Amino acid sequence: LGKLQDSSFIRTVKLFDAVDSTQNIAQRLAEEGAPEGTLVIAEQQTNGRGRMGRNWISPPGKGVWMSLILRPSLPLQFAPQLTLLAAVALCRALKELAPLDIGIKWPNDLLVGGKKISGILLESSAEDERIRYVVAGIGISVNLTEDDYPEALRDTATSLRIELGNELDRTEIIAAFIRHFQQLYTLYQQEGFSPIQSLWEALSVTLNKPVKLLTPAGQVEGTPIGLSESGALIVRKPDGAQTLVFSAESSGPPD
Ligand code: BTN
Repeated sequence: LGKLQDSSFIRTVKLFDAVDSTQNIAQRLAEEGAPEGTLVIAEQQTNGRGRMGRNWISPPGKGVWMSLILRPSLPLQFAPQLTLLAAVALCRALKELAPLDIGIKWPNDLLVGGKKISGILLESSAEDERIRYVVAGIGISVNLTEDDYPEALRDTATSLRIELGNELDRTEIIAAFIRHFQQLYTLYQQEGFSPIQSLWEALSVTLNKPVKLLTPAGQVEGTPIGLSESGALIVRKPDGAQTLVFSAESSGPPD
C-alpha cells in the first residue's frame, strides 16, 4: 500500500485486521480532527453496514472494505453528489482492471449481469447545514466465492472472482479507485457536478428502463430519464409528469 501514500490525495492509510465497521473507525478519527484523505482499510468487518440499515458481508481477506474521510466545503444538500462521484470513480477503476460489463444502478450500486458487486455508503456530519466531514464507505466484493454468501443472496450478489473466474489483487483495486476518485474530485471542485452527472449517466444501467421504486413517500412507477443537479433521479411517470426521487429502499422492474 506504499504506492497510495505517494499519492498527493491520500494523507494517511490506517490498516486494521478486524474492525466492527471501517465507517465507525473513520468517523471517530474525523471527530478527532483527521484530515481529508485519511483512508481506513480493514481485512475484515464483523459488523459491516450497508444502506438502509442492511448488513454488509465482509469476510476476512476477500474484499475491499474501506472508508475515506472527505472535508469538502459544501452545503449538506450536495452530499448525494459525492456518492454519485464515488460510484463513477469505482466503476471506472473496476472496468480498468476487470473485463466485465459493469454498470451503476442508481444511486450507487455497481452491478455485473444484474448482480451487485459493490456498494457505497456515504455518512456525513454537518453544522448549520454545511458539511463538517463525509465518510465515504466503499465495499467491493473482490474474491468472495458463492459459499461466502448466504443462500438468500446468491441470486442478487456476486463478486469479481465469481464473474471472472480468477482472483484479483485488492491493493491494485484500491490504488485504481483512489486515482480515479482524486481525478474526479478535482474536476468536481473545479467545474461542479455537471461533468460528473454526464459520466454517471453514461455508466448507468437505470436510465430509460421502466422501474418501480419504493420511496419513503410511497411507490413510484415510471421511467428514469436522468439525474437532477442535486443527484436525485428524474422519473417520468406514465401520465407524463416528472418527479424527483431522492432515495429509495428498493428499485426493480415494474410488475
Ligand atoms: C450498500 O450498498 O448498501 C453500501 C455498502 C457499503 C459497505 C462498505 S464496506 C466499508 C464501509 N464500512 C461499512 O460498514 N460499510 C461500508
